[in-house]
Amino acid sequence: MKNFRINFLAHKDITKKDLTSILRFKDNVWSYGIESQFSWIKKNISNNDIHVYISQKREIVAYANLIDGVSTNLNNLVGIGNISVLEKFRGNGYGSILIKIILFYLKTHKKDAILICKKNLISFYKKNGFKVIKPLNLHLNFPVSDDNYFMANFISPQIVELSKTF
Ligand SMILES: CC(C)(COP(=O)(O)OP(=O)(O)OC[C@H]1O[C@@H](n2cnc3c(N)ncnc32)[C@H](O)[C@@H]1OP(=O)(O)O)[C@@H](O)C(=O)NCCC(=O)NCCS
Repeated sequence: MKNFRINFLAHKDITKKDLTSILRFKDNVWSYGIESQFSWIKKNISNNDIHVYISQKREIVAYANLIDGVSTNLNNLVGIGNISVLEKFRGNGYGSILIKIILFYLKTHKKDAILICKKNLISFYKKNGFKVIKPLNLHLNFPVSDDNYFMANFISPQIVELSKTF
């Protein structure tokens, strides 16, 4: 891993070029088409939400978005979504570094993190400081399929109410 840059970009400050790179990167990982990636971002990302990415020679190699206001009862909760690493770079620690950087950033902003993942990635996120939230401790206002797990970097003494996806 050399000559990489870490970028935190508020959605309101994104340029057309940044957006194009993000859409292309995301479509490389999840090939739903550029238009569909764009619609998802328009629908789910607000001005103050943040795109975080690691780039190398201007190519995005790892990406995630940070979405504020995902909980109706925990004000300081940020949803980390779309965590992804370009296929040829996987298994080299980029995913773990991205998560560590995000957790450091959130800690300095006194925020907690929550994410959604499939069963096979639970151990990966556990290694990076997350714990599974028991379904009984979650109230969701949006549909999710049964094979999704919610993980957070804290154990909440109260039920976590989530109002939107991330
Ligand atoms: C999940 C992902 C972000 C990990 O990034 P990465 O750069 O490969 O991660 P690291 O190199 O830091 O760590 C790799 C670890 O993740 C595990 N891992 C990665 N993908 C996995 C998978 N599909 N199933 C099980 N484990 C997986 C590896 O086994 C490895 O574990 P190890 O440290 O015990 O060897 C990357 O594989 C990815 O982009 N996947 C496709 C998109 C995706 O599914 N994102 C998750 C959204 S919740």
